[in-house]
Amino acid sequence: MNTDFLIIGSGIAGLTFALKVARKLPGASVTLVTKGDESETNTKYAQGGIAVVTDLTKDDYAQHINDTITAGDGLCDETIVRMVINEAPARLQELIDLGVEFDREPGGQLDLGREGGHSQNRIVHHKDITGQEVERALLKQIHSLPNIKIVSHCYAVDLITEHHLGKEIARGYNTTTCFGAYVLDPVNNRIEKILSKITMLATGGAGQVYRYTTNPLIATGDGIGMAYRAKGVIENMEFVQFHPTALFKPGENPMFLISEAVRGKGAILKNKDGGEFMNNYDKQRELAPRDIVARAIDSELKARGDDFIYLDCAHFPAGQFAKNFPNIFRACMDIGIDPSKDRIPVVPAAHFVCGGIKTDDLGRTSINHLYACGECASTGLHGANRLASNSLLEAVVFSHRAFTDASGKVENINLNSAIPEWNEPATTKADEMVLITQTIADIKSIMSNYVGIVRNDLRLSRGLSRLRNLFKEVRSFYNTNVLSPQLCELRNMVTVALLITRSAYIRDENRGLHFNKDHVKNTKSQSPR
Ligand code: FAD
Ligand code: SIN
Repeated sequence: MNTDFLIIGSGIAGLTFALKVARKLPGASVTLVTKGDESETNTKYAQGGIAVVTDLTKDDYAQHINDTITAGDGLCDETIVRMVINEAPARLQELIDLGVEFDREPGGQLDLGREGGHSQNRIVHHKDITGQEVERALLKQIHSLPNIKIVSHCYAVDLITEHHLGKEIARGYNTTTCFGAYVLDPVNNRIEKILSKITMLATGGAGQVYRYTTNPLIATGDGIGMAYRAKGVIENMEFVQFHPTALFKPGENPMFLISEAVRGKGAILKNKDGGEFMNNYDKQRELAPRDIVARAIDSELKARGDDFIYLDCAHFPAGQFAKNFPNIFRACMDIGIDPSKDRIPVVPAAHFVCGGIKTDDLGRTSINHLYACGECASTGLHGANRLASNSLLEAVVFSHRAFTDASGKVENINLNSAIPEWNEPATTKADEMVLITQTIADIKSIMSNYVGIVRNDLRLSRGLSRLRNLFKEVRSFYNTNVLSPQLCELRNMVTVALLITRSAYIRDENRGLHFNKDHVKNTKSQSPR
């Protein structure tokens, strides 16, 4: 298959980019590949909303910039932060024009929620299902455009670069160049070569490398794995964000999120005896940046030997919880917890990868004709810890910027017809599923036990050596077995787990989300933590 634009991923980043290029260039062909149902994405589960300065009577860009930089703990790229926050209102207006419905006050102004680390109410949202509403509206627009072809339930295995042309030819290239991707088509049981002038990786996060995560099953770090194998630059992988409040329900994967917006409305964290503890950790208490709250909970759980803490909303005015958070209310009631009178048991869970494929201010990676956007990208916005609700924002700002760059370039790029077909067979189901599922369980266990919220040198070095062994095992298994989506996911998961652990092992300071007990003296935090 040949296409002008190949987009891998149908979350907010991939859909926004696809929509923009397809509208601007109606003669161009746009192919959007997604490995599951088209709406099964991290985006669909986003609850809290999108952080944008809209109410200039109380808020201003400087405050949002400052909050982002404070949360990022000294590692944000300040130029990028300014750019994203200044461009946010224009991107929000586009979402509204595309049909995304955000909640409004009776007077028509946007209803603004609050989350941790924000000095003002500035989170625009659709009830507590903002991501679902964004996916709905964007997919509706995508379906109306004849030049977009959605290829769902197909799995991108690897990016195609000059290395697929043989060593001799590859030596002639100064910079690695992307020519599309090999994609596993389960219907025909074969691997298709999709040649493309421009390729966009919008493959989302990697929470599934941990045992407890809020991320859906698709979040296996595939884009980061693919870019790494293609020799793209990957950075900041040690900064894995744990959301403080996932609903405690042993064995659940993914874990259901209790939005930070609930704390924004006044919910209080309590230990099992009903004691409040956040005032012992930070003056912003429940609304401190996420790394602080997650570490505080981790410390309480370890000190007391408990499995969970509680989120108490029983003091909310009657009916308020169900009105503001209908989806969360239903999920709690389904397991017999009525948030208007019962405390909600919660634990921290892996939620967001701040690092990823390094991009510039136009979403360009270190590989020619390859862009990355959304959670798989590392743009410089988040630094060492993402500010709540800044990731949907990052995705729309960077997909727009990548669109402006790529749409102006595409007509000067030729498809590379010398790229060979993928000759090996593929299968939809691996023969040795037990080996794959067991290795995934091993990865999750290593990451959760050795590379969690609080780390130390011994655990990191043990995790690193175990993951290196697993990496070698998976590589030889991959090289000698018929390809399947499960095997490809495993290969990406072990790669991403290794990248996280190696980066964590190398960083000898404490900053943002990375906290190593053996380096407390070298704590570089910029804000009181
Ligand atoms: P995703 O939405 O994850 O989409 C990834 C796409 O890539 C999927 O279509 C997937 O199938 C596809 N894909 C992956 N690998 C392959 C492959 N090998 N081949 C083919 N297709 C592939 N952020 C906020 O800003 N505000 C919030 O309120 C918020 N709430 C959240 C709540 C939850 C429960 C979670 C999990 C996250 C939340 N986040 C929130 C984070 C935010 O939702 C994500 O960072 C964002 O949606 C990522 O968008 P994306 O387009 O980069 O990727
Ligand atoms: C939430 O609603 O708590 C999630 C927000 C985010 O991850 O940005």
